[in-house]
Amino acid sequence: MSQKFAAPKGMNDLLPPQIEIWQVLERTARELFGTWGYSEIRTPIVEDTALFVRSVGEVTDIVSKEMYTFDDKGGRSITMRPENTAPAVRAYIEHGFAQQPVTRWYYLGPMFRYERMKTGRYRQFYQLGAEAYGSADASQDVENIALAWHYLKAIGVQHVSLHLNTLGDSSDRPKYLEALKAHFAPHVGTFSEIAKETFERNTMRLLDTKDEALRSLVESAPSLSEFVGEAAKKHFDEVKALLTALGIPFVIDPKLVRGLDYYTRTTFEFIYEPPAGDNALGTAGTVCGGGRYDNLVHELGGPEKPAVGFAMGLDRLVLLMEALGKRPERRPVLFVATMEGELKVHAVKLVTDLRAQGLSVDFDPRGGKIKRQVERAAAVKARHFFVYGQAEHEARAFKIKNMDLPDGDPAKEVTVPLDALAAWLLNAAQAAPVTP
Ligand code: HAM
Repeated sequence: MSQKFAAPKGMNDLLPPQIEIWQVLERTARELFGTWGYSEIRTPIVEDTALFVRSVGEVTDIVSKEMYTFDDKGGRSITMRPENTAPAVRAYIEHGFAQQPVTRWYYLGPMFRYERMKTGRYRQFYQLGAEAYGSADASQDVENIALAWHYLKAIGVQHVSLHLNTLGDSSDRPKYLEALKAHFAPHVGTFSEIAKETFERNTMRLLDTKDEALRSLVESAPSLSEFVGEAAKKHFDEVKALLTALGIPFVIDPKLVRGLDYYTRTTFEFIYEPPAGDNALGTAGTVCGGGRYDNLVHELGGPEKPAVGFAMGLDRLVLLMEALGKRPERRPVLFVATMEGELKVHAVKLVTDLRAQGLSVDFDPRGGKIKRQVERAAAVKARHFFVYGQAEHEARAFKIKNMDLPDGDPAKEVTVPLDALAAWLLNAAQAAPVTP
């Protein structure tokens, strides 16, 4: 008996033709991030569970509800990374980079969170992240934000706006929490069970609750900005001034608290704010989140090193690109129809030679009737087509058909000698590039 399987819930197969968008996103990232002085790192998919508990925070949704945690065969508790800031810091300290003045890293890869699924929210999803260690200066925050901004521009997504906030320094936090608790406490009796739990465990998260019943209470809540100390305020003013100087628009969003515990000072998100009617991301509109985390390196056993970073949700960017019709088309410049016997050997050799010269050339290994091979050439959207037959082999020249032109068009067919074929195809491929 055979048995059929499906991919685990919330975990997607990434397949053609959509994979072309993933490749564009990854290629653009490697080029741009490299140019900006960020080097790639690749850390393991699993880490010591305690790493995330210590850094992301025990009371966060990620740690308390969403981690894929299990004991390995040696009885150690390990967790499939729900994010990569903590693993990057772990590696930064472990391999002595924390001794260097400034380090800039980026990463690309799968993360895992056991979340309720909807559009743009998955259990295995992909992040593109960038982390910069070693500078407390506002120019480092802004460089990092500007990198995200330029990346989004480079891939051509639109209607994404930058939301900005400051959480102040960790010493500013207790006073604010006290005020926030005092604000919500008289109403807790009317809260939903979930809101009650958030109030108890992580009061600040009430500020970005989606619970409509809490809306007016959240709106009247004390603003963190009133509790931010002088040093953090000055830092935030510098961040805003620099962003303005760079021509990067932003909106101040005092309720932007983020769902991870390690942030200090600047926090930011790039949020998709679609024109009416368009809903490519549903409620999962945040395509990038990040901020400063000046205490984390020290908390994880390293020296005092300020840091700032972000991570983008690539799955969401792919959905946006798809909605915008930005899927590159990969079309072979030529399809060669083959005959049986010795002629097929010659044809396959020619296809292989042309491919080795960087040309995208296709053929149907099954061979068969020419009519079927023409259909196959059309199915793979080949631009040109010819039959490698006895006459062509002897004449050392091919009658090339342009698949994009209608029958009867004078330019539909041209004869090109074997010696000139590669150059002719290269020219044709350049006239119609493979990826836009
Ligand atoms: P985060 O806000 O948890 O931050 O995630 C960053 C981005 O990853 C989100 O804005 C979203 O686009 C994407 N994302 C998160 N969860 C999912 C999901 N279940 N499905 C699809 N996409 C998702 C962090 O992870 C921090 N480590 C960012 C950071 C880096 N802060 C400083 N450095």
